[in-house]
Amino acid sequence: MTPAQAGRVAWFVVSIFVVETVVFGLSVLPAFSFWTWSVALVPDQWILRPAVVAMSLLPAYLVFAFALIGLSALSTRICGWRTAPNGAWKLRDLEWPLLDWSRYMISTHVVRVLVGTFFRASFLWSLYMRWNGARMGRGVHINSLSISDHNMLDFGDGVVLGENVHLSGHTVEGGMVKTGTVKLGRFCTVGLGSMVGINVEAGEKCQIGAMSVVLKGTRLDAESVYVGVPVRKVERNSPAAQTVETALLDA
Ligand SMILES: CC(C)(COP(=O)(O)OP(=O)(O)OC[C@H]1O[C@@H](n2cnc3c(N)ncnc32)[C@H](O)[C@@H]1OP(=O)(O)O)[C@@H](O)C(=O)NCCC(=O)NCCS
Repeated sequence: MTPAQAGRVAWFVVSIFVVETVVFGLSVLPAFSFWTWSVALVPDQWILRPAVVAMSLLPAYLVFAFALIGLSALSTRICGWRTAPNGAWKLRDLEWPLLDWSRYMISTHVVRVLVGTFFRASFLWSLYMRWNGARMGRGVHINSLSISDHNMLDFGDGVVLGENVHLSGHTVEGGMVKTGTVKLGRFCTVGLGSMVGINVEAGEKCQIGAMSVVLKGTRLDAESVYVGVPVRKVERNSPAAQTVETALLDA
């Protein structure tokens, strides 16, 4: 490792540690204050105080979760930690775009573990991704923790990602990190357990079957159904696509 690389890695470690410490601490602060305040309100009698302590843990966690998604997204925006588009970086070079990407990944991972575990598929999970850089329409549901590089994602209204979908704006191949966008048109559905590569574009109401693989750079037609590994187009006019749109427009 060259001295320049060692310097970059040292700054990388210190900066991510300091930022995550501050973000985590500030997120805990309102929850902790709420908790101590609610405990102080009740007299210290037999079961009363322990009961209030126990009951206040869940609301305190909700306050923490909301604070964490906001502060974490704010911190990555302020620090400029994003995935650079059309990147192709050698891992061993440890250049700044790679380190910025790594800090973005770490920050996302902290929220994934502490908030996403309980809130995936909820509005809070989509909100976090939007705040963290994703372009996202209304009524987007993401029931997966394996979604990263949020600033490389562009989802239209009503997009649904099933459980355990793997979709991100990067891939690691042959010692290189490569990046690219993923665009899903309005009312696309990605079936559970599927993998979507970088530089994929899917037209409106495109349905990707469960356990399918969409290879990098693939263009998927609108109002079409794709299944398999790798995906192939199934020539049929799926009624499922229309059902999705109707349901959302009626809401
Ligand atoms: C892809 C999908 C939408 C197709 O539904 P559809 O339009 O009603 O079509 P069909 O079920 O009639 O299947 C059409 C063809 O694709 C095949 N197929 C369907 N889903 C498949 C899949 N996941 N993998 C491989 N082949 C599949 C069927 O065997 C059939 O093949 P055939 O024409 O040779 O007989 C549906 O099968 C699917 O996978 N949905 C995933 C839903 C999901 O996970 N949602 C996430 C939130 S829970």
